[in-house]
Amino acid sequence: MKNKGIIGSIIALAVVLIGVFAYQMGSRQTGAATDNKEELKTVGILQFISHPSLDQIKDGVIKGLKDEGYEDGKNIKIEFLNGQGDQSKLNSMSQQLLEKNSDVLIGVATPAAKALANATSDTPIIMSAISDPIGAGLVTDLEKPGGNITGVNNLTPVDQQLDMAMEMFPEAKTVGMIYSSSEENSKSQIDRAEKRATKDGLTVKKYAISSSNDIAQITQQACQETDYLYIPQDNTIASAFQTMINESDKAKKPVFVSVDNMVKEGGIATVGQNQFELGVESGKMAADVLSGKSKPASTPVNVIDYGDMIINEDKAKELGITIPEKIKEKAEVVKGE
Ligand code: TRP
Repeated sequence: MKNKGIIGSIIALAVVLIGVFAYQMGSRQTGAATDNKEELKTVGILQFISHPSLDQIKDGVIKGLKDEGYEDGKNIKIEFLNGQGDQSKLNSMSQQLLEKNSDVLIGVATPAAKALANATSDTPIIMSAISDPIGAGLVTDLEKPGGNITGVNNLTPVDQQLDMAMEMFPEAKTVGMIYSSSEENSKSQIDRAEKRATKDGLTVKKYAISSSNDIAQITQQACQETDYLYIPQDNTIASAFQTMINESDKAKKPVFVSVDNMVKEGGIATVGQNQFELGVESGKMAADVLSGKSKPASTPVNVIDYGDMIINEDKAKELGITIPEKIKEKAEVVKGE
C-alpha cells in the first residue's frame, strides 16, 4: 500500500515535469518564430502606374532580390504599392512605406522615385529604370550619388533610334514627337531626340499632352502634320498606348517607339532595352544595400545605355513599309499582338 503510494507520487511528479518541459519547449519555439519575424527586413516597392514595361520591371526587381538570396516571406517582407498615375497617392504611399519601417525603398519610374525622395533623406532608395536621374533632381552626380539614392538609369539609345528611323523612312521630312508635359523622363529624351533629328535634317514638331485624355486628339493632329511619330519612354503614353495606335492606324502613319513592349503593341520599331533585366539589376542593387555590402552614397548609378533593334513585321506590311534588308539582318522581328 505504502509502496503503491510512493510509485503513484513519482508517476504524478514525472507527468508534471514532462508537462512543464513540453510547455517550455513549446513557448521557446514560438518565441523563436516571433523573433525571426521581427528580424525580417522590409523592402518597400513603389510603382508609378501600371503598363507592361513597369510591370515587368517590378517583377524583375523581385527576381533580382531573389537571385541575391532575398525572398518575400522567407527572409524579407515585400510591401508593394502602385500609385496608379496619381501624384497624391504616390506621396501618401511613400509615407506608408516609411511607416512600415522599410529598410530599403525601390521607386519604379521617375515620379515614384521622386515621391520617395521627397519623403525621406535617410532610408536608402534604389531608383529603378529612371531615364534621367540628374534632370529629375534625384542625384547630382552619377558616379558619386552622395545621398540616400542610387539605382539604375536606363538611358534610351536615342541616337541609334533616330538613325534606324532614318533608314526605315528615308523619305520622311517631318517627325512628330509626343510626350507628357509632366514627365521629366520624357522631356529629357525628347530634347536629345530633337537635337539628333534636327542634325539629321528633319523638321521636328513637338506635342505635349497633359494627361492620357489628350492622346487621341493630339495623335490625330500629329499624324496630319508629320511623316512619322516618335514616342519616348513616357509612362502616361505607355499606359494608354492602344489609344494612340488606334489613331495612327486610321491615319496610316508609323509610330517609332522607345521600348520593345510598345513594338509588340503596334509600334513599328525601336532600339530597346529588356525591361525585366532593368528590374533585375535594380533588385540586385537593393540586395547589396540590405546585406550591408553597399551604401547608396558611394554606389555609382548603373547606366544602361544599349539596346536591341526590334521591328514589327505585321505593322510594316499593314502600313506598306518595306523594311531595308540591312535592318532586317540586324533586328529581332516580332509579330504584333
Ligand atoms: N524610364 C521611365 C522613367 O524614368 C520609366 C520607364 C521604364 C518607362 N521603361 C519604360 C516608361 C517604358 C515608358 C515605357 O520614368
